[in-house]
Amino acid sequence: MNIIIFGPPGAGKGTQSKFIVSKYRLYQLSTGDLLRNEIKNKTQLGLEISSIINSGELVSDGIVSNLIENFISKSIYQNKIIFDGYPRNINQAKNLDILLKKYNQKIDIVLKLSVSMETIKKRILERKKQEKRADDSEEIAVKRYETYEKTSEPVLNYYNKSNLVKVVNGESTISEINSEISGLIDTIKGWL
Ligand code: AP5
Ligand code: MG
Repeated sequence: MNIIIFGPPGAGKGTQSKFIVSKYRLYQLSTGDLLRNEIKNKTQLGLEISSIINSGELVSDGIVSNLIENFISKSIYQNKIIFDGYPRNINQAKNLDILLKKYNQKIDIVLKLSVSMETIKKRILERKKQEKRADDSEEIAVKRYETYEKTSEPVLNYYNKSNLVKVVNGESTISEINSEISGLIDTIKGWL
């Protein structure tokens, strides 16, 4: 089973992915985490992308496509991936379809976490105190949200055409969302 977890910045994608990983023995593929690792390790790629990430824009499709293919192509991850933060535009969604086909896989469900702008701001400012993520200022968070609305939200229509999208209320408590997501995953045929 492959899952996409989708939603605006601070919606809880990472938090819920960790829960799904441990309950269903999947692997989290967070493009944001992979990109931040490059920055932390001061790689050539990290140097190229840090200013883009801190402007709240998306890094280029080519860069993320390489990271994604490295992951999808490994047999241990086959049909066990939760995509967190990818795809984020229509081009990436089409590219993901091509890669999944190439490695004989598909997406089974797209979980969309819905949260208000007010909640997003609160969560991101709270996280800033704990994790010190460079892009967690209010100003960059607003920019990330704008990028999400303009570029990423249309991806939902792409997956709605094949009826894969399930909307989850991201305003509830972490454990209430855990339960709602489990209920949705458990309905996927042929999985349990
Ligand atoms: P990315 O790392 O994906 O960031 P994001 O989408 O902005 O999302 P966040 O990680 O901020 O939030 P989240 O939804 O994971 O929430 P979390 O669980 O942490 O991307 C960062 C940047 O990388 C992008 O802006 C872009 O530049 C680049 N990038 C990444 N992917 C790319 C791609 N595919 N293409 C191009 N560029 C890409 O929760 C947030 C906080 O709230 C936490 O503190 C958590 O503890 C708390 N919380 C979570 N759930 C709840 C709850 N239910 N109640 C109360 N608190 C909660
Ligand atoms: Mg995240």
